[in-house]
Amino acid sequence: MLKKTLMIAAATGLFATAAAQANLFKPEDAVEYRQSIYQVMRAQVGVIGAMTKGDIDFDAEALHQRALNMEHVVGLLGETYFPETRGVAGSNILPKAWDDMEGFRAKGQNLGTALQELIAASGQPGFDAAKARPVVAKVMQSCKSCHDDYRK
Ligand code: HEC
Repeated sequence: MLKKTLMIAAATGLFATAAAQANLFKPEDAVEYRQSIYQVMRAQVGVIGAMTKGDIDFDAEALHQRALNMEHVVGLLGETYFPETRGVAGSNILPKAWDDMEGFRAKGQNLGTALQELIAASGQPGFDAAKARPVVAKVMQSCKSCHDDYRK
């Protein structure tokens, strides 16, 4: 468990683990790849949020699986954030993020922590919508908080 937490923390730490990946991806492709990862996360959060609000049936096991889906893709983000992507047209990251990598990274860590909490909570017996609400809210808040500061 601890090992896993550290792994996610590192993965969402952007740059923390990823060596420059300019040799693997063209900057334009890396930005598309990055945006696709965020789209995958949005899809997962969308279903999780609908369940938590009661718009669709609550299914703890399905929610847990979707949290794991997010964990899987969030770890890939790091390799898309190499400096050569900075000037790519169509990228919506604010220059401020590159100038304040520490702050940006901290927002990534917040998402990692919130996601880890959701994975742990949703794996417990008796996990229901009432229990899900605050933990899911924390995940969503971590998305918004980074977008507010670092996304166009
Ligand atoms: C650490 C900061 C950070 C966190 C945390 C974060 N995002 Fe983002 N997100 C960004 C940035 C930066 C972009 C713009 C990327 C680009 O265009 O290069 C973005 C873009 C997006 C996009 C648009 C992708 C596209 O097609 O252009 C979606 C959707 C999105 N994020 C969803 C989420 C969701 C859902 C979460 C939480 C589960 C989340 N983000 C958490 C920084 C963050």
